[in-house]
Amino acid sequence: MPNLETTYLGLTLKNPIIVGSTGLTKSANKIKACEDAGAGAVVIKSLFEESLRHEDLGLDSSALMHTEAYDYLRAEVNMQYGPVEYCDLIKEAKKTVKIPVIASINCVSPKWWPDFAKKVEAAGADALELNVFPVVVDAINSSANVEQVYLDIMDSVKSNISIPVAMKISMYITALPHLAIQLGRKGLDGLVMFNRFVEPDIDIKEMKLKTTFPFSDGDDINNVLRWIALLSGRVKSDLSATTGIHSSEAIIKLLLAGASTVQLASVLYKKGFKVINERLSDIEKWMKDKKFDKISDFQGKLNFGNIGTPDLYLRSQFMERVRSIE
Ligand SMILES: Cc1cc2nc3c(=O)[nH]c(=O)nc-3n(C[C@H](O)[C@H](O)[C@H](O)COP(=O)(O)O)c2cc1C
Repeated sequence: MPNLETTYLGLTLKNPIIVGSTGLTKSANKIKACEDAGAGAVVIKSLFEESLRHEDLGLDSSALMHTEAYDYLRAEVNMQYGPVEYCDLIKEAKKTVKIPVIASINCVSPKWWPDFAKKVEAAGADALELNVFPVVVDAINSSANVEQVYLDIMDSVKSNISIPVAMKISMYITALPHLAIQLGRKGLDGLVMFNRFVEPDIDIKEMKLKTTFPFSDGDDINNVLRWIALLSGRVKSDLSATTGIHSSEAIIKLLLAGASTVQLASVLYKKGFKVINERLSDIEKWMKDKKFDKISDFQGKLNFGNIGTPDLYLRSQFMERVRSIE
């Protein structure tokens, strides 16, 4: 039987499937359900710093596809639970499950990152994921300034705690390889690519702003696949893929591209926890067919550095392919 164990953030996971930070991990019972379903680890629902009034942002539950998605929106603008409740949840989860429990925090002001990080570490989390998405609206900040924010957040957290730290980032970063390599050099243990955001929309009937958060579908992995492959072998941090991972094939592709783990969210909402075991059986079967005994036998085998045709990862308008369609 192939061994599905993988190493992520210095932790040994029994398999690479992580239940991503969502409403599916926001209570100890739910985290236990993730473990029972076969997950290798969980990232707890994020603790958000913001406490803006949601009415001000025009949130409207009817515009959304799922109550949990609405929950995510609300979480972004109203602190869902305070640090005390969050730490209690970590403690309870640690008593309830054996799989690694990764906490997740999202802050705005620089002061809170290290403060929350210390609390989360004291509560017993195995690792911490920093959910970072500065929204840059002013025209004063250069991309270098904005990228420095990521480095500063990482420094402020890493210098205050000793559990491993991952950073979940958006795909909208100008010079991602430069930033990723710097974060890795400075000790970031894991890079989670990429977060999925609430998007603005306009209701033309009511003529007012609304927000939307549709679940992903399978096509959404393409950009993730490209970036995992481009960074694998070049950054010191482990790579965890998230966004658009709906099939067993997608997981195998991302491991081949260099991911250590994958984080699922939308597919679990759409199809339920049973998909975790289905995906694991498919991966085992594929590994048997290919005669791989363990994940490290093929992890990163098709990353940017290991393939003979890196152009396929680089060209966004690949001439041959486009011509054949035209
Ligand atoms: C309902 C819902 C709630 C989410 N809440 C969070 C959150 O609190 N923190 C976070 O970092 N990501 C959150 N996410 C993002 C997921 O963890 C995941 O990274 C993203 O949805 C991409 O994966 P997917 O394509 O499988 O949905 C949420 C996603 C969904 C669907």
